[in-house]
Amino acid sequence: MNYDVILPAAGSGKRMGAGKNKLFLELKGKPILIHTLEVFERDNWCRGIYLAVKDSERDFIQSLLVQYNITKVRAMPTGGDERQHSVQSCMKAIGSGEIVLVHDAARPFIVEPTIHELAEAAYEKGAAIVGVRAKDTMKRVEEGIIQETVDRSTLWMIQTPQAFRFELLQQAENHAERDNFLGTDESMLVEREGESVYMVESSYENVKITTKEDLVFGEAILNQRIGG
Ligand code: CTP
Ligand code: MG
Repeated sequence: MNYDVILPAAGSGKRMGAGKNKLFLELKGKPILIHTLEVFERDNWCRGIYLAVKDSERDFIQSLLVQYNITKVRAMPTGGDERQHSVQSCMKAIGSGEIVLVHDAARPFIVEPTIHELAEAAYEKGAAIVGVRAKDTMKRVEEGIIQETVDRSTLWMIQTPQAFRFELLQQAENHAERDNFLGTDESMLVEREGESVYMVESSYENVKITTKEDLVFGEAILNQRIGG
């Protein structure tokens, strides 16, 4: 089984407040971006990596790829103002394919067994995403007042990677563009097509490094993995 992976890396990291792209911050002495890239560099199922980058960061990222011996990056198209547009620029760079995964460059802790389970689900069913079950009691709140307690057993917190048959994601992106629809993930675009998207259970470790606290959590995950 083979797949191509799209890693949007063209964000600004505003919520991190580091004054630079958070993907260049280091965990255990290695940039977050490299931690993520190494997962796919090592995975034999991964044919090629497509990285959406900012023009101003392309040279620096290129130098990191050389320094860390990342060999599978096939293209580094320019990202857009929105994550969805960054992903779309990578889809254009791929051109055609069978299974495509979209994974936030800011999620370095994804593991190969989950990636494989996801890729197989997309191959069989067309579209699949990873996530975890909601842990806390969930309530719907309006203007500071509880409206209802939502049945938690049906609620999932959605992560990436998300995997699709190439042509399905391509069609969903084209329709979203036509309709000026902006989703927060690729699944939303495919859901609009009326397609079933299947859920694959992942791990609470697969966090997106978003704010400063996540760096502490990230170091802890890496320490534990080295120790075990
Ligand atoms: N991303 C992208 N293009 C954008 C926005 C985001 O490629 N226009 C990428 C980010 O680099 C990141 C992933 O999408 O790997 C998830 O986005 P997020 O965690 O929101 O990162 P940032 O947008 O960089 O952070 P913030 O929203 O805090 O500014
Ligand atoms: Mg963002």
